[in-house]
Amino acid sequence: MLLGRGDEQAVIDALLDEARAGRARSLVVRGEAGIGKSALLGYAAERAGGDFHVMHVTGVESEAELPYASLHLILGPALGALDLLPILQADALRNAFGQGRTGGTGHSADRFLVGLACLSLLPELSPRRPLLCLADDAQWLDQASADALLFAVRRLQTEQIAVLFAARDGEHAFAHGAGLAELPLTGLDREAAEQLVARNRHGLALAVRDRVVEESDGNPLALIELSRQVDDDSGLGAFLPLPFSLTAPTPVSRVQAAFQERIRALDTAAQRCLLVAALADSEDYGAIAPAVAALGLRMIDFAPAEQAGLLRLTPDGTVRFRHPLVRSAVLALADVKHRMEVHQALAATLDADAAVWHLAATAVGPDDAIATAMEDTARRAGERAAPAIKSAAFERAADLSAGSASKARRLAEAATAALDAGHLPRARDLAVRVARLTDDPMVLARAAAVHGGVEFETGVPHDAARIYLDGAEQSLPEDLQTGLALLGSGTLAAWYSGARPEQDVLAERVRVLSAGLPDGSGPLLDFCRGLMALRAEPWRAGPLAGTVDALEAGAGSVVPAVRGSISGLFLMTGDREAALRSARAVESDFRRKGMAGLLVQPLLLSAMASMHLGTPRTRRRPRRRRCAWRRRRTRPSASAMSPRSWPGSPLSPETSRPVSSGAAKPSPSRWTATGRRSWASSTTPGRPWRWPADVLRKPRISTPRRRPGRPDTA
Ligand SMILES: Nc1ncnc2c1ncn2[C@@H]1O[C@H](COP(=O)(O)OP(=O)(O)OP(=O)(O)O)[C@@H](O)[C@H]1O
Ligand SMILES: [Mg+2]
Repeated sequence: MLLGRGDEQAVIDALLDEARAGRARSLVVRGEAGIGKSALLGYAAERAGGDFHVMHVTGVESEAELPYASLHLILGPALGALDLLPILQADALRNAFGQGRTGGTGHSADRFLVGLACLSLLPELSPRRPLLCLADDAQWLDQASADALLFAVRRLQTEQIAVLFAARDGEHAFAHGAGLAELPLTGLDREAAEQLVARNRHGLALAVRDRVVEESDGNPLALIELSRQVDDDSGLGAFLPLPFSLTAPTPVSRVQAAFQERIRALDTAAQRCLLVAALADSEDYGAIAPAVAALGLRMIDFAPAEQAGLLRLTPDGTVRFRHPLVRSAVLALADVKHRMEVHQALAATLDADAAVWHLAATAVGPDDAIATAMEDTARRAGERAAPAIKSAAFERAADLSAGSASKARRLAEAATAALDAGHLPRARDLAVRVARLTDDPMVLARAAAVHGGVEFETGVPHDAARIYLDGAEQSLPEDLQTGLALLGSGTLAAWYSGARPEQDVLAERVRVLSAGLPDGSGPLLDFCRGLMALRAEPWRAGPLAGTVDALEAGAGSVVPAVRGSISGLFLMTGDREAALRSARAVESDFRRKGMAGLLVQPLLLSAMASMHLGTPRTRRRPRRRRCAWRRRRTRPSASAMSPRSWPGSPLSPETSRPVSSGAAKPSPSRWTATGRRSWASSTTPGRPWRWPADVLRKPRISTPRRRPGRPDTA
């Protein structure tokens, strides 16, 4: 029974009630090690046990580098329902789990589709009962699984599902800023702390108990472990410093110190077995046993550690530490010789992708053979749409590279993958490191593309333009293709940087760079020249039309940011159908490649083109017969989520006719007179579009009314 957690238990009870009632809920329980997060998850499992289907997944520190390892554990039981999913989602998930038929559809795992597949499959885990999904130690979920889970969890609405995460506080806190509800845990109050000590250690002298309570600062793990550790024969514990309080400043480190004492008391064989379990990529007996044998040990050598309460070999074939802090204590005690031996044993017995990390851990300096193997692992992670892992593996490969050229190339790959994964500060750091390492223009150009991309994404287009143009300067005229791509991105960023004096400087750089290239260098060059010329007279976009057509024709070869802007250019030149067509093509391409972070651009442009055409985009839905969950559950229909269904919306069926035809105007109840006038004036058929200036000044389109019982779509 939990002590002193009445408020937190009430929060969990309410969450389960909501899920029972078909209002999906999620919660991140946060706090330091040993504060009681897992215990609270245990409480949730107990409360839900009667009517929920409860499933657990636990992040494992050493598996944090294995893409989709945790997601595989979660969705494994529902994989039989894969065929009910839209084919792209099913294929994406198969590829993520390494079961892809690459020769089949040709689509590799893609983060966006994996997230969608996860959203579709979660209800399949428990078709008949509410589902409680418990993700413990979420700070160690591999990044790819965490991304997919968070993607899905944020989109659950009317399902009978509750998802509880438990995560440690820390520098790289799980789901930090993801917008999920949070429950921070702090220490137990004095009364509960005293009860907990009394429960674990009967008859402890009161003065000693008080010392333990003070040293523990309400941390339940510290209360339990430290009370077991103290020796109160004479009651001296009240006056002498306790062994663990001499060097350890926090309750958590005191617990760790106490575990270390217990480990030191074990024989050598047990200590080495513990080290194998601590360094292995798995809790699976089958993965640990071969390495134990390779070291000349037997599983029975674990017995003293089990007797000391440090870990347990469970009947279901797992080797589980009593607490993650035991693992940290084992690692902290092990010397380099023993660590190396164990890594070598694991590398010799695990599969290639897991083994290479252990091999890398044995390298004492640069090692090109391991670096090459690590690069292969990075590429495989890329194929499985796990860019965070790809980035980490490329960075490790760079660390192991002997020559500065291969080091710089691999770091540039790591930077690109970090940008794809949306880890912007990391991508920037890696790109900056590349720039310090090499003067190879090709690699520098790649770093500039990443660095510029980060600046562009983080809202400093002027800096982005400067970085892109520096990169273009470095690669032109020798490497025309890369140089033009950077010039195109730089021009676009310069366009977005606004009409400031600095923009003139950027425009002049674009002019000089593009003047140095031969006229027939391709549409991207015309685009750069044309866009900068437009700065003075934005309404004279018409002459760009030919360029935009040509750009669209070669769209596959331009960088994503420029590609995403082509439909905007069509809008400016007045060709709305082409704008819509182009935006949709870009959107589906970005989705297929998992570039979810860039989707906002084609979606926005698609919506704008639709509004001009008066033909709002209908959402593509998977066919009803393919989707079992739709039959079983009431999800908000796609049409209910669409702005088209908002009463009075200019996109609603009753008001949705071509604005330019004059046949139907947006409903007066939703549009101000100024807005109507301005909108009409901005959409003259066949003429270049321009922003309706007074609408921009007074954005007074009223908020759509919500229908009772409809989800909050605003
Ligand atoms: N409120 C409580 N009452 C009684 N015992 C508790 C309470 N909270 C936690 N415990 C016990 O304290 C120990 C540590 O708790 P727990 O494992 O839940 O911590 P944690 O926050 O999950 O730590 P970590 O971050 O290391 O996983 C466990 O033995 C647990 O049973
Ligand atoms: Mg825990």
